[in-house]
Amino acid sequence: MTLDGNGLSVTGGPITTDRDITAQGTVTGQMDVRAAGISGHAHTHPVTSAPGTTGAPQ
Ligand SMILES: [Fe+2]
Repeated sequence: MTLDGNGLSVTGGPITTDRDITAQGTVTGQMDVRAAGISGHAHTHPVTSAPGTTGAPQ
């Protein structure tokens, strides 16, 4: 782990916290990013009956 003027870098293990995480910039995931358990990489949208719209990601 390094912490210096360039930021915080952790290698070799996961990062966990029991509190919130806030980012002023973009959050990037090389594999996936999940929000409320929904994959940003592989979610789908159900087709709805309203023209030109889809349902919430699932
Ligand atoms: Fe989507």
